[in-house]
Amino acid sequence: MTGSSYLRIRSVQKSYKGAVALHDINLDVEQGAFISLLGPSGCGKSTLLQILAGLLDADRGQIELGGEDITDLPPWKRNIGLVFQNYALFPHLSIRQNVRFGLDMLGMDRAEAEKRVDESLAMVGLDPALSRRPGELSGGQQQRVAIARAIAIRPRLLLLDEPLSNLDAVLRHKVRLELRELHDRTGITTIMVTHDQAEALATSDRIAVMNSGRIQQYEPPETLYRAPATAFIAGFVGSPPANLLPLTARDADSWTLANGHVWRPLARLAPQANGVKPGTACLMALRPETLAIETAGEGGLSARIAAIEFVGGDRLVHVETGGTQLTVRMAAEQAIAGPEILLFPPQETPLLFDANGGMRLQAAL
Ligand SMILES: Nc1ncnc2c1ncn2[C@@H]1O[C@H](COP(=O)(O)OP(=O)(O)O)[C@@H](O)[C@H]1O
Ligand SMILES: [Mg+2]
Repeated sequence: MTGSSYLRIRSVQKSYKGAVALHDINLDVEQGAFISLLGPSGCGKSTLLQILAGLLDADRGQIELGGEDITDLPPWKRNIGLVFQNYALFPHLSIRQNVRFGLDMLGMDRAEAEKRVDESLAMVGLDPALSRRPGELSGGQQQRVAIARAIAIRPRLLLLDEPLSNLDAVLRHKVRLELRELHDRTGITTIMVTHDQAEALATSDRIAVMNSGRIQQYEPPETLYRAPATAFIAGFVGSPPANLLPLTARDADSWTLANGHVWRPLARLAPQANGVKPGTACLMALRPETLAIETAGEGGLSARIAAIEFVGGDRLVHVETGGTQLTVRMAAEQAIAGPEILLFPPQETPLLFDANGGMRLQAAL
């Protein structure tokens, strides 16, 4: 990483009563970027965000923002905006008072603060004349107020913790685009926490994928999709994510599947062509949208269709092969034979992971 990163997180660790929540977090964020922390529930995303905000102390490690060491700075001196999933608005204050709260804390004079409130409400698409209290607003409007409150202080960093989770599916889609637009207009360096990979892919310049208190990969969305560093990421990113087919190299040309059947694939997918020695247990990531279903041909995987799911323009075909369930995504109008079929992965370099530990076997892709 370069020495010019705006936010530098170094060796941050955190345990709760002996249980490690963050192992050794290192992360660099460029000024003006929109990044996501993506991972399943309990992987440590909120813990890291709260440490950045100063609401939690790390056990060790260092945080630098704009060249300043903020590790021991109290939250109100960090000038960081924070938005929670549940909005956390003050119910007894009006909308305007909620947005003005942080400005009053900073001791800003009244006229200037009022101007800032107008600006911030307009920025999130709310009427600055709104005189109601938070309880009278919809979830989507409350979330806008929370965002307006966070940006009113013109933060050096905007932190969003699952900001869309309480919104219904349609609104979630709309607001995630608005968040990105707001970012592009304001240029505020933004970190969003989410467990929803589609949300992270749609909004972020880079995504830090977390699992069990560690960052496994930190890359732009396209790279995570094309070259996942671990089997966990391959099986987490994508709609639906990649299938992970367990197989063991039998010899140079063939694999043994989970149920003991032998698969002799076309050359590019064979163990030797990928530098895999006989006896090595692997996971091959197969993207649902790249698998082809055929009735005849050399090198296919014998499979049986178990169920077909209609998902709008596409169908998800659930098949069983070699003792493993896989999903194939195909256009709804495409005819499917069956139930006995042959499955063909694409003829490119396959994504292969070590079955022990899940690291990708190929160094570069
Ligand atoms: N206040 C707390 N006390 C004890 N354990 C906690 C506390 N907060 C979080 N944890 C634990 O730390 C881990 C990470 O939690 P969290 O950062 O909330 O994850 P995420 O936001 O990714 O769901 C989890 O195992 C969680 O149970
Ligand atoms: Mg959380």
